[in-house]
Amino acid sequence: MTSGSEIFTLISTSITFLIFTLITIIIYNFLLVLIEWNRVDISISQIQEDARKLAEKYGYLPYMVQRYIQFLGLDDTLKLLKANEQPLTPSIRVNTLKISVLELKNRLEKKGFELEQIDWVPNGFKVIKEAFNLGSSHEFLQGYYYLQNIASMLSAVILNPKPNDIVIDMCAAPGSKSTHLAQLMGNNGTLILIDKNKNRIPALETNLRRMGIINSILLNIDAINLPNLNVKANKILLDAPCTGEGLIRQDPSRKVSKKMKDIEKMAPIQKKLLKAGLNSLKSEGVLLYCTCSIAPEENELVVNEVVDKLDNFTISEISKNYGVNGLTEVFGIKLLEDLRFSQRLYPHIHDTIGFYFCLIKNLD
Ligand SMILES: C[S@@+](CC[C@H](N)C(=O)[O-])C[C@H]1O[C@@H](n2cnc3c(N)ncnc32)[C@H](O)[C@@H]1O
Repeated sequence: MTSGSEIFTLISTSITFLIFTLITIIIYNFLLVLIEWNRVDISISQIQEDARKLAEKYGYLPYMVQRYIQFLGLDDTLKLLKANEQPLTPSIRVNTLKISVLELKNRLEKKGFELEQIDWVPNGFKVIKEAFNLGSSHEFLQGYYYLQNIASMLSAVILNPKPNDIVIDMCAAPGSKSTHLAQLMGNNGTLILIDKNKNRIPALETNLRRMGIINSILLNIDAINLPNLNVKANKILLDAPCTGEGLIRQDPSRKVSKKMKDIEKMAPIQKKLLKAGLNSLKSEGVLLYCTCSIAPEENELVVNEVVDKLDNFTISEISKNYGVNGLTEVFGIKLLEDLRFSQRLYPHIHDTIGFYFCLIKNLD
């Protein structure tokens, strides 16, 4: 028989053991959290230190380089900063509405230009040797070609409008992509061109006239009000206004001209434009969202917030891999898995400007 005092000793020993075990677990977990905190602290301060040094060396605002290290890693950030120092090779798109590729090639080569076909764009050429200013040739003034960078040419190629489509270009001026859309439509169908900025309309009109575009309607309105027009389109291009963080190769002043708050100001406008565009798509219609920015805040984070709230839209795969996959996690935020179907172009990988594409389909 066990006596009362023995039972008491057994219970108190068990309780002491339990308390001891609990305290050990609490201390152990506390130490783990402390170690993790320190590790995060060390890695953040390391990023800040690397970013500060690189920003100083290449002449950027430090917040930019700090973000690059976060979403690209240190190695690729270094490659990006180096590639941004290299000037872009000029490129042209032959306007097949007015001249054949062969004829324009012959004419320019006779004048001393050297052209090299761009794999990705059927009528696109890199100008390897520029005999004189590409914007002053007789052929340019006749609208036989458009001076356009490769990333920009890809927008119309990806959207792939057909001759009888109703197509809307929500942010059209000065018309690089609009004139390309019209070309792919064979100057048929309906191309609705919108731009809010009155001062940019004359340049758009001049380019439309020069390139011989006759299937377009021009509207100087805020594209956020697009649904009020009650038009439903097969294809919509939203080349959203952005901070141009991909344009540093063309404009090195962008290294210091925009602060984080400028990027934060653009995102709400981009989201409103995207919602307006999606609301104006026909059933099975597609919208291409693009920017000349590598900022996730103007790209994946915009699409993520808008598409996540809508049931009837899906991020579609782009038929070819022009760039690298879009981000599905950034700055510690998990994003829609389908954003891997969006694509990013980088100067250090694709020898272009920095660019972003995301194709979104109306499933209704
Ligand atoms: C990136 S640029 C477009 C470049 C043009 N797609 C091209 O390829 O030549 C952005 C354009 O959006 C226009 N924009 C800005 N906010 C707008 C809005 N709310 N509605 C319509 N256009 C807008 C600007 O005036 C600017 O011309």
